[in-house]
Amino acid sequence: MSASPLSDRHLILGVTGSIAAYKAALLVRRFKTAGAEVQVLMTSAAERFVPALTLGTLSEREVLTDIFPENEDGSWTQHVTLGEWADAFVVAPATAQTIAKLAHGFCDSMLTATALSARAPVLVCPAMDREMYRHAATQRNLERLRDNGYKVMPAAHGELASGLEGQGRMPAPKDIAARVGALIETSADDDAPSPQLSGPLAGAHVLVTAGPTREPIDPVRMLTNPSTGTMGYALAREAARRGASVTLVSGPTALSPPEAVDVVRVDTAREMNDAVQARREDADYVFMAAAVADYTPAHPSDSKHKKTEEDAPLTVQLRRTPDILRTLGAHKQPGQVLVGFALETDAPRRHARRKLEQKNLDWIVVNNPAEDGAGFGPTNRVTLLRRDGPPESLPLLPKAEVAEALLDRVLAAAPHRSQ
Ligand code: C5P
Repeated sequence: MSASPLSDRHLILGVTGSIAAYKAALLVRRFKTAGAEVQVLMTSAAERFVPALTLGTLSEREVLTDIFPENEDGSWTQHVTLGEWADAFVVAPATAQTIAKLAHGFCDSMLTATALSARAPVLVCPAMDREMYRHAATQRNLERLRDNGYKVMPAAHGELASGLEGQGRMPAPKDIAARVGALIETSADDDAPSPQLSGPLAGAHVLVTAGPTREPIDPVRMLTNPSTGTMGYALAREAARRGASVTLVSGPTALSPPEAVDVVRVDTAREMNDAVQARREDADYVFMAAAVADYTPAHPSDSKHKKTEEDAPLTVQLRRTPDILRTLGAHKQPGQVLVGFALETDAPRRHARRKLEQKNLDWIVVNNPAEDGAGFGPTNRVTLLRRDGPPESLPLLPKAEVAEALLDRVLAAAPHRSQ
């Protein structure tokens, strides 16, 4: 007998507040019997239908509900860790409420936040009353989930808890398990080493940051900058083309992710710092092209600031954000190459050289946004400063060509050690 596709796999089962929640126990049993490790995440509404103790006992892991667990190690980033851990994420039963939240990217619970962090396939198995299922809002939300890349199983027909007959029942656990197995098998095929992974950077890990960060002042206002992310995306694309395994930590941009690049999306400088520091040890080359905010509102407000009287100023107190690159420089691994970017309007080379030394960088790419075609936008005119070697000024170039030139220079000075 061949092994189940679920054998030794990591599955997350998200359980929401539907009467069908009791069937989650059958799903956990089925997954465990097939040899999977199962982490159950419940919404607080689900706990009213089935005790966490039941699912925790069956799964042999503590059931998680709250995104801010009261543990001492401060591991509030567990949703991110779990998102990376999972080979598949199944939401069964999925209520209209959770479907709406997932469709719109809400992350107000461990379940919804982990779904946003998941890199693995997400399968949504709706369960609700017939009219709720048919409602245009629910159908639009399910469509939206599909557009966002989630897989959605249609609800089954039959008798519903309301006494009505119709479509709205949670799909049968055996059908859900079969679908998860198929999803895992397909995604394992997608993970097969790509033939593109050859070239001067084959075997190298490249970490790139791109775009602006957004620092909230209140729920509808933020501090940000005009960075488009073009430089970082161009570098990530070029490094992948040269065979590297690339992670791109991106602030909000309108750009499509480059092919064969693992994209981690963040908003604030603090989130970018967390994403970068978690990956710094594996990185052979780091290109810190993001325009990270240096300051963030010290006390972002939970509600929208009201307009003040006409002449009364509104004061927003700012505090420094973590300097991501400086931390990387302070913990530089042997053989690791760190490349920073500097936007300088006065005495650019002198200031950039000082940054290179202070942040313990190998290279710094300097540009002066006051010059025509330089800075934010599709082209740039840069000077490359290196720790030991003369500066080199490049002509005005599209950013894709700046990326090529920069990678050429960095690799010539420090070829990847597997070469
Ligand atoms: O000190 P300055 O902000 O000019 O340094 C620019 C370089 O430092 C860029 O590579 C930028 O991505 C990085 N940076 C950072 N963390 C910050 C601010 C800038 O890593 N908080």
